[in-house]
Amino acid sequence: MTTLDQIVQFAKSTGFIFQGSELYGGLANTWDYGPLGSALKKNIKDAWIQKFQRQSPYNVLFDSSILMNSQVWEASGHVGGFNDPLTECRSCHQRFRADHLITEHDASVDPDGWSTDKMYQYLVDHEVKCPSCGSHDFLPIRAFNMMFQTHQGVVLEQANEIYLRPETAQGIFINFKNIQRTTRKKLPFGVCQVGKSFRNEITPGNFIFRTREFEQMEMEFFCKPGTEMEWFNYWKQFTKDWLLNLGIKASDLHLDDHSPESLAHYSNATTDVEFKFPWGFDELWGIASRTDFDLKAHQEKSGVSLEYLDPVTNEKYIPYVIEPSVGVERLVLAFLLSAYDLETLEDGSERQVLRLHPKLAPYKVAVLPLVKKLHNEQAKALFDTLSTSFDVVYDETQNIGKRYRRQDAIGTYLCVTVDHDTESLGSVTVRNRDTMAQERIKISELEAYIRNQIKY
Ligand code: GAP
Repeated sequence: MTTLDQIVQFAKSTGFIFQGSELYGGLANTWDYGPLGSALKKNIKDAWIQKFQRQSPYNVLFDSSILMNSQVWEASGHVGGFNDPLTECRSCHQRFRADHLITEHDASVDPDGWSTDKMYQYLVDHEVKCPSCGSHDFLPIRAFNMMFQTHQGVVLEQANEIYLRPETAQGIFINFKNIQRTTRKKLPFGVCQVGKSFRNEITPGNFIFRTREFEQMEMEFFCKPGTEMEWFNYWKQFTKDWLLNLGIKASDLHLDDHSPESLAHYSNATTDVEFKFPWGFDELWGIASRTDFDLKAHQEKSGVSLEYLDPVTNEKYIPYVIEPSVGVERLVLAFLLSAYDLETLEDGSERQVLRLHPKLAPYKVAVLPLVKKLHNEQAKALFDTLSTSFDVVYDETQNIGKRYRRQDAIGTYLCVTVDHDTESLGSVTVRNRDTMAQERIKISELEAYIRNQIKY
């Protein structure tokens, strides 16, 4: 199994992900996405939008602002309740999330929903050790609000305090009426949004798994009360299929259905789609049936009705909501871990190959002149043509074998080589990343061939 260290090294050396602010010694737990990483992220977001929105008869796209009126976060419960249980080791003064200390001490214990007193008592009774210095003497737990606060405008006064959004969802809820009115959508319908969210996590870590700045892809699916379980199951299956179709192995996925006791107060069903990360199964994607909690809260706070008038039955009600919510970076990590392979070839040599689904591969095609001096003009012309339709990279340095290996390692699905026969035969050699098999294809048929291979 691929380790986290292997993936971190790989991501850094190939240009997928770099340490944030590296030039200045770094800023802990921030990451910059290089040319390949940003392409992979873009392809993941495109694939999500394609399936969840463009090809869905129900869903529309949305893009709300990161900065919102503070009342949004008061209504949603984030000002009062978006807290993590923070404790501090009295010996080394490192800070930890108490719930994480408990599950790391005993994975069979689930402290979700426990009071801070109960968590503290557990730390004391079980003599839970500080992961940093090994002592077992923690300060009492206090609730730590995870929202990043800032000020709008030039005057640093309380009235100007605002927050960076900790989730994209609320931007959709507060626009429910605008979207429904302008699209004239009838229930059920969903609203999809991709965008940055910020959380002042106490213990970020595991590379890009938990960070303070991340991108979410969230869908709020509005439906008639009473139909929510049908839609909850529909989107659960839809989410799972999306992951499997893009190359995640079924054995690396686990659906954790929350028990009634561990549900959040606003939810009547929640499932965590878990992926087998190197440290064990952990949350990749949350799917929650949120009842009418959010719309009701905004209706009460704003004084504006967020009811829906059912044109068939003439009933007025606040819709129920199903919310599949995922972090793009967690998907980047899951796809990289699933795709990374060190293959031993028949001659005993090793080949590093990134078996990303062609839709996700940063480059679909590499165009390679066999001999730089002889074939570069034809190859460049081919790059110009193909790059109008696909993500293509041009590579003319080093021998062809090394170039194939380089493209394999970054996941490029096809290598197109311009060679001695290209001019006379009007054809090129096309090599497949996974099978390494080569075929001779006519240039006039190349675009259709590539399209078919990468399942565009
Ligand atoms: N609107 C619901 C919501 O935000 P969440 O479970 O807090 O729910 C949803 O977050 C998803 O966002 C998670 O399943 C995870 O994929 C991603 N996510 C949450 N916090 C994250 C963090 N600190 N770093 C990276 N991804 C995060």
